[in-house]
Amino acid sequence: MKANKSELPFVLVNMAMTADGKIATANRAVSSFASARDHEHLLELRATADAVMAGARTVDSAPINLGPGPARYRQKRLQRGLDAYNLRVIVSRSGSINPRAQVFQHRFSPIIILTTRRVDARRLKQLRALADVVKVCGRNEINFRAAFRWLRKRWRVKRLLCEGGGELNDAVFRAGLVDELHLTLCPKIFGDRRAPTIADGHGLRHLARAARFRLKSTHRNGNELFTVFARD
Ligand SMILES: NC(=O)c1ccc[n+]([C@@H]2O[C@H](COP(=O)([O-])OP(=O)(O)OC[C@H]3O[C@@H](n4cnc5c(N)ncnc54)[C@H](OP(=O)(O)O)[C@@H]3O)[C@@H](O)[C@H]2O)c1
Repeated sequence: MKANKSELPFVLVNMAMTADGKIATANRAVSSFASARDHEHLLELRATADAVMAGARTVDSAPINLGPGPARYRQKRLQRGLDAYNLRVIVSRSGSINPRAQVFQHRFSPIIILTTRRVDARRLKQLRALADVVKVCGRNEINFRAAFRWLRKRWRVKRLLCEGGGELNDAVFRAGLVDELHLTLCPKIFGDRRAPTIADGHGLRHLARAARFRLKSTHRNGNELFTVFARD
């Protein structure tokens, strides 16, 4: 059955990508390659979102806390009627999240882990000690539609910002849940077919199944192109 749109949050995906379509090097050592302006753009988007979400490998491969950043962004949030600090959502099918990841060192807002029944009891206990809430959203795979509906209903998430990585994005695109894609095109080439892209996962076999977007805006800043695509 088709979900009532108002039961779901408006979902934005924000990514920086090289000119050859990569979001990190194959060994994941380099994933920060965009300008300071792109980082501001990320914080500006976070300042409009009730919750910021990322996949397990994004959270444990870089020193990120998924928070709103400096006080001026928290001020903007308050002016918009949002909480000063956004909720943080981490997605992990198997629960293989590094407990020492930076995100857990900063306790300014609730951390929610979305996971599956694949996680055994011991690991579930560990996750519960790390996060404020652990939500099991499926047997082997996360049912993102149900998970997002729960985020909206239980946590009043009206705008959800997904910050990758590629594997998580792919699942959210395939579920038809992405309303807007913010893509910063950076003038670098990484090469390597093993390097992640904005959507790596199962993909599709037929054009008719592609997630479709229309170009909403473009803005050049220096040598980077800031693009926004809206769901078609
Ligand atoms: N350039 C950019 O804008 C940008 C943005 C974000 C990330 N990155 C980079 O991208 C790289 C990470 O991307 P990635 O694709 O390898 O990893 P990712 O999507 O961040 O994380 C993958 C992990 O997330 C969980 N996951 C993903 N999809 C899931 C699903 N459908 N259901 C349940 N769990 C799911 C799984 O965790 P478990 O294994 O625990 O089950 C999976 O192993 C890093 O190098 C990061 O720094 C770049």
